[in-house]
Amino acid sequence: MSVAGTGGVSTSYNRLQQLKSFDESKAGVKGLVDSGITKLPQIFIRPPEELAADNQTPSQFTIPVIDLKGVSGDRSKVVAAVREAAETVGLFQVVNHGVPLKVLEETLTAAREFHELPQEVKGEYYTRDKMKKVKYGSNFDLYRTRYANWRDTLFCVMGPDPLHPQELHLVCRDAIMEYSWQIKVLGSLLFGLLSEALGLNPEYLESIDCAKGHSILCHYYPPCPQPELTLGTTKHSDPGFLTILLQDHIGGLQVLWQNQWINVPPVHAALVVNIGDMLQLISNDKLKSVEHRVVANHRGPRVSVACFFTLDNPSQRIYGPIKELLSQDNPPLYRDTLLQDFNAYYYNKGLGGNSALDHFLLQR
Ligand code: OGA
Ligand code: NI
Repeated sequence: MSVAGTGGVSTSYNRLQQLKSFDESKAGVKGLVDSGITKLPQIFIRPPEELAADNQTPSQFTIPVIDLKGVSGDRSKVVAAVREAAETVGLFQVVNHGVPLKVLEETLTAAREFHELPQEVKGEYYTRDKMKKVKYGSNFDLYRTRYANWRDTLFCVMGPDPLHPQELHLVCRDAIMEYSWQIKVLGSLLFGLLSEALGLNPEYLESIDCAKGHSILCHYYPPCPQPELTLGTTKHSDPGFLTILLQDHIGGLQVLWQNQWINVPPVHAALVVNIGDMLQLISNDKLKSVEHRVVANHRGPRVSVACFFTLDNPSQRIYGPIKELLSQDNPPLYRDTLLQDFNAYYYNKGLGGNSALDHFLLQR
């Protein structure tokens, strides 16, 4: 085999072999940890220049926590808080969001139990097949990134077409189905608030199908023997319209705000909400799809469950900056784009590097 296209240096060939054997183990990062490794395999190590450039200075900025309790009465205060957060850092936490604590706890437990199934059972779900609705894997962009992340994921497409519960393993079936239902209700509420925050009628974002589909990603970050050399998740912004994230008590999620990494601390019973790339695109940059990452940790496993609101592929829907928001002073920044083209570009690019949004800017 030629090394051209794999980086062109002699080590690239070994790297490809290592990636393949990791992939073919179908055991993910957890499999490596279970095998008793004490040093990080080379494929996970961040390049030295990236490690050297990592700014670890702590910052004083605190992530807003928005109480949704008042939402059925006078919404104006809640809308104002959502607008402020969505237009600046692009990420906030919500409490009194209506999803019962028991459901949150059962969802985290179910996610953990799936990843802790015996390897022979879990391995059945391991696939890189784009058409599969339920897939377990590690590093969707494994063969495209400079270093692999210390993370495994169970990915489930829950809508617009409802997932058949049978497709989920019994240990997580009921919990994921219930969480999916609950999170859809919260998603509708948030799209209502975000519509109002944009000065549109409350139904606007739902009427253009922003809440119509969602996927649930159950992430598992095993304890890491050398956390300073890798990351749980490389810097990225999320592809969909909106993400609602449930994280456990371990911590490690950070957002990039004014060139500094800010911790998003676990808050009991809260959910993290962040704007995705598609919402930044249709709001013509009014709402911000923030870059974030997850640091690796000696402690663990850390479990998180992300819900991406987006339409399942292939979606023929075209999105561009919302006409009602445009004016002579606010001309469109992005071209009209098929959702499936955006998704294809995003997933092909992989995490890290420049925002996928750059590719969809109008040339001026
Ligand atoms: C994601 C993500 C963060 C986390 O799924 O896109 O950023 O804490 N997850 O797992
Ligand atoms: Ni993300």
